[in-house]
Amino acid sequence: MLKANIIEKLNAQVNAEMFSSNMYLQMSAWSEDKGLAGAAEFFKKHVPEELAHRDKFIHYLFECGASVRIGALEAPRADYNNLVEVIEAAYAHEKKVTAMINDIANLALDERDFNTFNMLQWFIAEQREEEVLFRGILDQIALVAFKGQSGEAMFHINQYLQRLAQTL
Ligand code: FEO
Repeated sequence: MLKANIIEKLNAQVNAEMFSSNMYLQMSAWSEDKGLAGAAEFFKKHVPEELAHRDKFIHYLFECGASVRIGALEAPRADYNNLVEVIEAAYAHEKKVTAMINDIANLALDERDFNTFNMLQWFIAEQREEEVLFRGILDQIALVAFKGQSGEAMFHINQYLQRLAQTL
């Protein structure tokens, strides 16, 4: 049996993963609007990935005989000044999700809930990969001195994201 405080946090994480999916869908739509097909494809790849994360938490709650409670979702930010801002926002968001997962892992240890702690190991590794991914894109952005302006650097980053999307 899961403790109530663990169930509450796992349900909050279900919502957070759904928010992440909507956030990436909005980022993809923003990119599409700006004619950035590579970036649009890259962000779109994250949409089902985040829903798969949601489903892992839901499946775990079911396995443990705990109730799933879907809460209201905040609308994701829709306006950005440029693509650099979008990537920075995605990176900041992934760092926030990492902190949320770490927080649940911490609570699981405090509660001696080793099943939940064990289930979270997959997410801990996944969050490391997500952060590495976005840090890598920011490195590329710095390499070509892209500050969000139209031109060769933006063309390069859009193509880079298109190639990256094929690997996700
Ligand atoms: Fe569900 Fe992008 O982490």
